Amino acid sequence: MTYKIDTVAVLGAGLMGHALALIHALGDKPVALQDTSPKALAKAPGLIEAALATLVEAGETTAAEAKAAIGRIRCTPSLEDAVRGADLIVEAVVEDPGVKREVFAGLDRVAKPAALIASNTSYLDVFPLSPPSRARTTLVAHWYTPPYIVDLVDLVGSDRTDPAAIETLRALYAGWGKKPVVLKRFIPGYVANRIQAAITNEVFRLIDEGYATPQDVDDAVIHGLSLRMPLLGHIKKADFTGLELVQRALANKTWEPAPVTGRSTTVDRLMAEGRTGVMVGKGFFDYSGRTPDDLFRERDRRLLSLKRHLRELGDI
Ligand SMILES: NC(=O)c1ccc[n+]([C@@H]2O[C@H](COP(=O)([O-])OP(=O)(O)OC[C@H]3O[C@@H](n4cnc5c(N)ncnc54)[C@H](O)[C@@H]3O)[C@@H](O)[C@H]2O)c1
Repeated sequence: MTYKIDTVAVLGAGLMGHALALIHALGDKPVALQDTSPKALAKAPGLIEAALATLVEAGETTAAEAKAAIGRIRCTPSLEDAVRGADLIVEAVVEDPGVKREVFAGLDRVAKPAALIASNTSYLDVFPLSPPSRARTTLVAHWYTPPYIVDLVDLVGSDRTDPAAIETLRALYAGWGKKPVVLKRFIPGYVANRIQAAITNEVFRLIDEGYATPQDVDDAVIHGLSLRMPLLGHIKKADFTGLELVQRALANKTWEPAPVTGRSTTVDRLMAEGRTGVMVGKGFFDYSGRTPDDLFRERDRRLLSLKRHLRELGDI
């Protein structure tokens, strides 16, 4: 069996949901964007327009395509209204198992029997939360923020998911220039988030225990660790290093990873001081004098410029 995706519902219109609505609309699909919060629904169109303006400015899409995409998105507070008739239901509600279970039960009452249900969950095992009757068509399609710029999509099903359901989304997203990675079986955090979690754990140990300053860490990451990553990833880099050294590094017992404590004294201190990040103008670093909008726009412009250069460079 193959799945035909003509219409899409996106549940949850927050940070991820509004952007996922935009991606599917740019892919030519009519999208119903649903949220139970009137505030989130009211905010979504402005966020979508701002994201599209960034893509147009970078030459990633045309003004006409952007306008057409906006015209394909409708916002609704009703779950039933959104999912009735949808071929693909993208679940991007808050990361709470109770809420997700309720949403899956609600959509089960009205969604088409063959509708694909793709959860954007970051870490939850959503498969036990979805009704058994939907097991064949439930999968994870996990995006990264901002998903209209970061191309990676993790795709994974349970042992009961129809392989054709996974292949349908793989082909759909690959056709839009995204980079789907299909995991053999579910593991919380998938690949990139697990690697990122290990880096996060190590970085905060180095800062908390006074080995390096936040600036030292970012200098090391930007100028050392990450410069080669966009070209070589991590595994091809091992081939360039030579596997003999990789084998010796693996066997080096003098190096131990930071223990997983689940917290950082530095992050706790900054939080207590109200230094929560870019949104308030200060976190580890000081951003005063610049608005969050301005900072996010500049980040997105630079990311898109980097992507353009990487596309031109191609594979090694
Ligand atoms: N933020 C990220 O960087 C990121 C990245 C990848 C995946 N995710 C995942 O995406 C999902 C959404 O995360 P987010 O960052 O967009 O969160 P968010 O808090 O910005 O948005 C969640 C939205 O869900 C809505 N909501 C709550 N209950 C609802 C219900 N019953 N029906 C419909 N809408 C409901 C909320 O009103 C809110 O607008 C989570 O599962 C999260 O783990 C987040």
